[in-house]
Amino acid sequence: MASWETIYQSRVMSAKEATTHIKSGDQVVVAHALGAPVLVIDALAKNKANYRDVTIHHMLTFGGTPYVGEGMTPHFLHNSLFAGPTNRSAIEEGLADFTPAHFSEIPGIICRHIKPQVVLCQVSPPDQNGYVSLGLNSDYTMPAAKVARTVIAEVNPKCPRVFGDTFLHVSEIECFVETDRDIVHLPQTELTDVEKAIGRHCAELISDGDTLQLGIGAIPDSVLFFLKDKKDLGVHSEIVADGVQYLVEQGIINGSKKTRHPHKVVATSIFGTAKFHRYVDNHPMFELYPANYTNDVRVISAHDNMIAINSCLQIDLAGQVCSDTIGTRQFSGIGGQADFVRGANLSAGGKSIITCYSSAKNDTISKIVPVLAEGAAVATLRADVDYVVTEYGIAQLKGRTLFDRAAQLIRIAHPKFRDGLLEAAEKRYKRKMTVNLSLPE
Ligand code: COA
Repeated sequence: MASWETIYQSRVMSAKEATTHIKSGDQVVVAHALGAPVLVIDALAKNKANYRDVTIHHMLTFGGTPYVGEGMTPHFLHNSLFAGPTNRSAIEEGLADFTPAHFSEIPGIICRHIKPQVVLCQVSPPDQNGYVSLGLNSDYTMPAAKVARTVIAEVNPKCPRVFGDTFLHVSEIECFVETDRDIVHLPQTELTDVEKAIGRHCAELISDGDTLQLGIGAIPDSVLFFLKDKKDLGVHSEIVADGVQYLVEQGIINGSKKTRHPHKVVATSIFGTAKFHRYVDNHPMFELYPANYTNDVRVISAHDNMIAINSCLQIDLAGQVCSDTIGTRQFSGIGGQADFVRGANLSAGGKSIITCYSSAKNDTISKIVPVLAEGAAVATLRADVDYVVTEYGIAQLKGRTLFDRAAQLIRIAHPKFRDGLLEAAEKRYKRKMTVNLSLPE
């Protein structure tokens, strides 16, 4: 058998040449989020005239969606697994479609239902044994790469080499496109006062030795900011981002009390700045595994003291949580929210926390509402929801009646909307409600 070096060299080609390995009618899976191979995606879109009815399945599209838009549909149909800024309007306008799914089930949906012919991804350069790392992704990218006819990978020295189930041998990849472009990364952001208030309240619910899952958005970093006085924390998450770096460096996150994968920070994808991507490169504590493992309720709940923290867009007074639609408009996806809420609820000593800003659009809209907007999708059931945190405090809902839940939620709503919510709740439940509306401001 040829050496891995010979195999690798014989498969290096331009992005344009690599796209000739994609055929009309193919099911193409693009790596999640920051793993997007931008050069290959751009080349594919530019060569659109060569394709008919290629379906492109893609979860978060941080690297752009040049294959979506007017004039693209005879060539490409986009199936979004998580809507975002580059494809929300296309989904709304019928130029793309959306598949609702728990992240835990997406690897199975891809491997057993979609059965992709092609996977587009980015990898680190081969190591001395001829293995490349998918870097920021294991999620669905690794399972899809194992079943596809053709794997097309951008090879980039800026893609970190991350441990866990991220490694492919060069013989498993048909096309290598070499580049040293900056890989897609998130910007560094400053925490707002509202985010800090939410983070501080969440930190009150976290104890030494807990294992954390932190969802998507600014709030997770804010929670981590308030954990500097804790010790022996662990991470078993869907994503990990910059906020964990300081706590790992200080030994506050050390995984010493984790009941699974002790001493490791486990996730399915990494969402970070360029600085964080350099930090996780060859870092022995960080491990990524496919989402059908990390997000499996049985795996999550096997962690004692599992704390799941996720955000939402709207919550009604019964505790039904809408996290991925604004009315009927597909805004994002549910990702692993329900996976982790249920896993944390089943964990010994676990807690699930849903966070939300109390209002949206410059305090003109309350996120806590009497009933969800027409067409809103429920991500977390009212029977599953437990803690809800806004900048005004903590509501605890599990085990409480509808009437008591409403009182809990009104107390942490934005002060501007509390009177209206109280009136709606009393009308619905036909009882007077005692809520101290003057607290907390
Ligand atoms: N009505 C109208 N608009 C609303 C709204 C509401 N109820 N709630 C939020 N918005 C608007 C905001 O004003 C904001 O608009 P802008 O960008 O013009 O300012 C936008 O929607 C985003 O809202 P925000 O609350 O800032 O979102 P976020 O970045 O904190 O993300 C979720 C929150 C819920 C979208 C995100 O956490 C998510 O997708 N969650 C589901 C997936 C998940 O939980 N996965 C878990 C594992 S990673």
